[in-house]
Amino acid sequence: MFSWEKLDPRYLKMQEIVQQELSYAAHDLDHVLRVVEMSLTLAQKEKGVDLAILIPAALLHDIARRYEDEDETGTIDHALLGAEMAAPILKDLAYEQQSIWEIQDCIRSHRFRSGFLPKSIEAKILFDADKLDVIGALGIARSYILAGIHGERMYSDVNIEDYLQDNVTENGRIIDVSKHTVNLEFELKLKKIPERLYTAEAKKIAAGRISFMKYFFEVLEQEIKGER
Ligand SMILES: [Fe+2]
Ligand SMILES: [Fe+2]
Repeated sequence: MFSWEKLDPRYLKMQEIVQQELSYAAHDLDHVLRVVEMSLTLAQKEKGVDLAILIPAALLHDIARRYEDEDETGTIDHALLGAEMAAPILKDLAYEQQSIWEIQDCIRSHRFRSGFLPKSIEAKILFDADKLDVIGALGIARSYILAGIHGERMYSDVNIEDYLQDNVTENGRIIDVSKHTVNLEFELKLKKIPERLYTAEAKKIAAGRISFMKYFFEVLEQEIKGER
C-alpha cells in the first residue's frame, strides 16, 4: 500500500492531534484513516488532485465531531467548527494561508447538511470518501456499533411508509431512536448515498457496496424468520 504518512512528517502530528479529539467508535481514528486511504484511491482516478490539500483535509475533517455530539443546544455543526479548529493547527505546522483556506473549504463542505457544497476536486473526493465509509460491510459494522450505543433492535420489519409517519420528522430526524434499526436506516438513507456522490469512481464503489448491503439485509430477514 502507498505510504502517505511518509509524504510529510506533519501528517503524523495531525494524526496525534485528531486522536486526542475523537472519542467514540463510529468516529474514531480508524474512520479518519479509512477516509484518508479511500481519498487516495479516488484521487488516482482524477486529474490534478493536490494531495498536500487532500490528505490534511481528510485527517482533520472530523476534528470537531465530539463538540457536535456533546452539544445539547443542537447548534454546533462539526464541519463548520472543524474548519475553524483546523486553521490554528495548520498555521502552527507552517502551512501557507492559501493552503489553509483550501483545506478549510474541504472540511466545511464534507457534510450533507452544512449548506456548503464541495467545489474543488479535493473537496469532492473528501466528501465521497467520507460517505463511502457509511455503506458496504463497513457501513453495516459501523451502523451496528451505533445501534448498540442507542439500544436499538437488530431488525425491524415495520412498513417503511408507516415508520416514516410515526417516527421521522419532516426534516428527516428520528423521533424515538430506540425504535430505529440499521435496516430502516438503510432503507431511509444509506441506499440513496450513491446518487449524492461526485466522482465516477466513488459512484462505482458505492453501487457495489449498496448491492452487498441489500443482500445482507435479505439474508438477515430470512434468518430471523427461520427461512434460511
Ligand atoms: Fe464528518
Ligand atoms: Fe467523517
